[in-house]
Amino acid sequence: METLTEAPVSDYDPFAPEVLADVHHYDGLLREVAPVVYIEKYDFYAITRAEEVQKALRNWRVFSSTDRPFYEPNPFRTAAPLMQDPPDHTHTKSVMLRIFSAENMEKMQNHFEREAEALVDELMANGPIEVDAYKDVAARYVLKIFPDILGLPEQGRELLLTFGDAVFNVFGPHNDHYKKKMENGQPALEWVAANATRERQTEGGIGWQLYQAADEGIITEEEALQLLVAVFGAGFDTTVFSIAGMLRAFADNPDQWQLLRENPDLLSSAFEESTRYYAPSRYGGRVAMKDTELGGIRIPAGAKVFAMWLGAGRDARKWDNPDQFIINRPEPQSHLSFGFGIHTCAGQAVARMEGRSILAALLKRVGSIDLVGEPRRAINFQAFGHEYVPIRLNPISE
Ligand code: HEM
Repeated sequence: METLTEAPVSDYDPFAPEVLADVHHYDGLLREVAPVVYIEKYDFYAITRAEEVQKALRNWRVFSSTDRPFYEPNPFRTAAPLMQDPPDHTHTKSVMLRIFSAENMEKMQNHFEREAEALVDELMANGPIEVDAYKDVAARYVLKIFPDILGLPEQGRELLLTFGDAVFNVFGPHNDHYKKKMENGQPALEWVAANATRERQTEGGIGWQLYQAADEGIITEEEALQLLVAVFGAGFDTTVFSIAGMLRAFADNPDQWQLLRENPDLLSSAFEESTRYYAPSRYGGRVAMKDTELGGIRIPAGAKVFAMWLGAGRDARKWDNPDQFIINRPEPQSHLSFGFGIHTCAGQAVARMEGRSILAALLKRVGSIDLVGEPRRAINFQAFGHEYVPIRLNPISE
């Protein structure tokens, strides 16, 4: 029988200010310590490497979603479906996936493509243009298209990003950073509460469809509300970060933009690669339901764990040259940035559609992308992204 070793004990603080400013570097150092490391300061186990993260996420019976480091009830984080195990999870997730039916996806596809074309046409109307890829491309695009499909009013949409910013700081230490994010999020929480009610849903919209499921007795009214709030929380900062990060990656790697121009078939792979390279979500929490092991390291029953998929996305055991942005990798979809197993991202088809639509529109008109200033990273416990990416979009020369 394999002998198990105890997890190395680390004084690493994943939430220290210098770490939050450079998570790839620091989570990368942790990954090289061991596949599982005990984080003494906060009493949890960090799963750091791609193989072990995937193994843990596959095994939901042992690694349950019903508890996690730093968990306590919080209005920004609803239980369904993220904090449920089967059978509850199977039930609510199936309802959530109904809203991404073929019919709804087709509606989204048409809308997303049309709006991507309109935005890029407008930006490129007068030759080269300097823009902030975060604000002028990613946020402007996502805050137009997805709330339209959800059936939300124009007014106040930008609060969805503030809401997400609070959501992705819930699972971390309750320090000043946390308090500030929760406080900043209050007006957004009120906007979300007002716009997630049954009365506010536009007939045929996604929210309306969730309340229909409640009318049919498939879920409760409360679950419908929770699922809608979960979409509001999970569906905005993540996709805005993914698009802004993708544009930064291309600006830093002009050869990859030229490779894509010459090989437009690589468009989907390019989006996957940017999602691996700049994973918008850093980690997810679980609790060990019994004594178990990963990579030969013992994890005791009751241990709280974080699966650190951002660091795992740069694991050299899985990826050649992991710190390089390479759009023609083999198996580009095998990253863990959308999670893995039963809790794999419910909105990944939407996220991919958004990313691919804006990328396709840019590819038609943009010959090259230059970085024209110093990008700034957003500081967040669980989300990773940029809050400012100054770039110049140069039109394709005739
Ligand atoms: C690039 C964009 C996105 C990324 C990187 C991302 C990432 C993730 C990850 C890593 C998980 C797994 C969490 C876990 O296992 O603990 C997840 C779950 C989830 N995501 Fe996303 N997400 C994105 C966009 C979206 C969008 C657009 C929506 C909504 C339309 C969404 C809704 C959800 C929901 C509801 C869950 C919970 C699923 C479950 O518990 O079964 N996400 N996402």
